[in-house]
Amino acid sequence: MTHTKPESTAVPPHLVLLGAPGAGKGTQAALLAAATGATHVSTGDLVRAAIAGGTPLGRAMQGYSDRGELVPDDTILQIVLPHLADPAGWILDGFPRDVAQARALDAALAAQGMDLDRVLALDIAEAALCERLQDRRLSAATGRTYNLRFDPPPPGDPGPFVQRADDHPDEIRRRLQVYHEQTEPLRAYYAGRGLLRTIDADGPVEAIQARLIAALPANAAGRAHGYAP
Ligand code: AP5
Repeated sequence: MTHTKPESTAVPPHLVLLGAPGAGKGTQAALLAAATGATHVSTGDLVRAAIAGGTPLGRAMQGYSDRGELVPDDTILQIVLPHLADPAGWILDGFPRDVAQARALDAALAAQGMDLDRVLALDIAEAALCERLQDRRLSAATGRTYNLRFDPPPPGDPGPFVQRADDHPDEIRRRLQVYHEQTEPLRAYYAGRGLLRTIDADGPVEAIQARLIAALPANAAGRAHGYAP
């Protein structure tokens, strides 16, 4: 896969990636960020970085994250809202996660005179999600995400390869339940505003990325036109 340097446009993209745990939000958001020049903002990564840093906020969030439950909305808003002013634009991965967060995002954007361009929802069967999550490993050396089955670590990455605390069967079940109860209603929330596009998230990573790029709004698609899987 190759990327050419994104073209600059007057209006940077403001995108949300929605999807169940393991749908591929992080994998696809990183590629979309490279293709469009927008910043990848993953609230899961921000939460895990705060936990690893041992900050008071991190200590407050650890139990929720390890159990696969949502961190309280006011805490998440504290860590994500400062990123909205990024002049490169952004791809939000893992936020918003419930209707209260979506309303808070709307209010923050309105206060800054900004709009959400599009919400891209990744769709995939639950059995495939569980398979992906149980085999996910993170390299402690490079921070890269791999999959023992679908994308094994290359010989050049020394590891060690760590499993996330919430990637065990009980926690995966809990996260899926939380997703259905709290996050899935966001599809209707954004569909009602004409912002939602649904993407088939089954298949090779590159094919899914091409589907996402085809679903981008004009300002982001203009930046990504040099993308060549
Ligand atoms: P977060 O990190 O956001 O977890 P998640 O939503 O459960 O999503 P994942 O990171 O598990 O999956 P993903 O969709 O990014 O998939 P990935 O690309 O890695 O959140 C973790 C926790 O933080 C939450 O439980 C909560 O406690 C807290 N939190 C975060 N945001 C919050 C918020 N807004 N409010 C409150 N709390 C919040 O892919 C998964 C695996 O599949 C990888 O191994 C990958 O290599 C593989 N893979 C990817 N694509 C493919 C493909 N096409 N084919 C085969 N394998 C693939």
